[in-house]
Amino acid sequence: MDTTYINEVSKYSGKEVRIRGWLYNKRSSGKLWFLLVRDGTGIIQCVASKADVDESTFNACEEITQESSVIVTGKISEDKRAPGGYEMQLGTVEIVQLAKDYPITPKEHGTAFLMDHRHLWIRSSRQVAILKIRHEIIKSCRDFFDNRGFTLVDTPVFTPAACEGTTTLFETEYFGRKAYLTQSGQLYSEATAAAMGKVYCFGPTFRAEKSKTRRHLTEFWMVEPEVAYADLDDNMKLAEEFVSYVVQRVLEEKKEELKVLERDTAPLERVIPPFPRISYDEAVEILKKNNVDFEYGDDFGGGDETVISDNFDRPVMVHRYPAAIKAFYMKLDEKDPTKALGVDVLAPEGYGEIIGGGQREENYELLLSRIKEHNLPEEVFDWYLDLRKYGSVPHSGFGMGIERTVAWICKLPHVRETIPFPRMMHRLTP
Ligand code: 4AD
Ligand code: MG
Repeated sequence: MDTTYINEVSKYSGKEVRIRGWLYNKRSSGKLWFLLVRDGTGIIQCVASKADVDESTFNACEEITQESSVIVTGKISEDKRAPGGYEMQLGTVEIVQLAKDYPITPKEHGTAFLMDHRHLWIRSSRQVAILKIRHEIIKSCRDFFDNRGFTLVDTPVFTPAACEGTTTLFETEYFGRKAYLTQSGQLYSEATAAAMGKVYCFGPTFRAEKSKTRRHLTEFWMVEPEVAYADLDDNMKLAEEFVSYVVQRVLEEKKEELKVLERDTAPLERVIPPFPRISYDEAVEILKKNNVDFEYGDDFGGGDETVISDNFDRPVMVHRYPAAIKAFYMKLDEKDPTKALGVDVLAPEGYGEIIGGGQREENYELLLSRIKEHNLPEEVFDWYLDLRKYGSVPHSGFGMGIERTVAWICKLPHVRETIPFPRMMHRLTP
């Protein structure tokens, strides 16, 4: 008898197979037992009728508890009404380990309780669907850049300096010196872009912001392309094609998972280039028209971003922010040097910024003066300044946060469900 996975049972219609998994749920109607068995690839209903199975099998159905590990055998048959379209007529049930008092029951649990039991919560259908979509998003990010001739170049996690402002650095002791966990691989990607032209890095990044919003994690994953000889317009074109590719891939490859999440896919189907492009000034006009209390020159908050993006039916790209609120490395707009050539991509449906990026300052003197203005330690940027001394070229890039993208595509209320084990200000366990 073959051992198979639930997502492959259609090959075995009319045949006996063995499935190894866990008991998701069960119910009985007197002489019948219905066991819902999951194995990570799907869920199958296994039916045992008292008349057809031997006593020990029927008793095992009686005894088995939620999340016990189990090996079942039986004949597969097509059944349109069954979840997954197939069911198993139970032959044997082997309880591998009997789980006693599984803490997460089918009743409602509070968020704090579920988060404390995250190591078990990830077994639920909803969480499995989210994590499979996360996987597809990551895979499609890689495919997008790989198919366009980008080279994946990893960047370090221990760094000597800040990339995105000194207020959100996690400091750690490093053999008698100070090191910081990376906030972004960008500065290193600028170096590798000068070596390989088109590169991307993809790894965990860290932010110590004391923020408890639904979009903040202290540890999150970011994919960051960097392109030599690309300007802000090239960068926006790359960003819209990239976001659209990722969304369309999920729609294509993860239909079942989107159904589990009851995701309305119509807004996702509209995520096709070109995305609207508006300047910071135009975005501020939208806020004014909507009577939002906003101070010109400030950065947009989550609420402001929602008001702005509600005016569009697909992601919107906001460019040319005030330089004062953007990072030191951004190139200034020659037409208005108070503005930086940065761009944020705001997702629809109230999800806000998923991408931040822009064109980098390539001039040595200007970059040095920006480092000084920002009171950054010059010594640790020596190597970064070297890039402006030896074959400097215009170049651009951006970073997309995986978790915010997952939250948006899955339409989740909070980023905590987008990553297997979230790290937040008040959460370091499990
Ligand atoms: O806008 P950010 O800070 O940009 C950078 O780090 C650039 N150096 C990227 C680049 O140009 N290569 O962050 C980029 C994205 C945000 O748009 C957001 O999606 C995500 O990273 N992000 C976070 N996600 C979850 N939790 C946080 N605390 C995040 N901070 C940023
Ligand atoms: Mg940003």
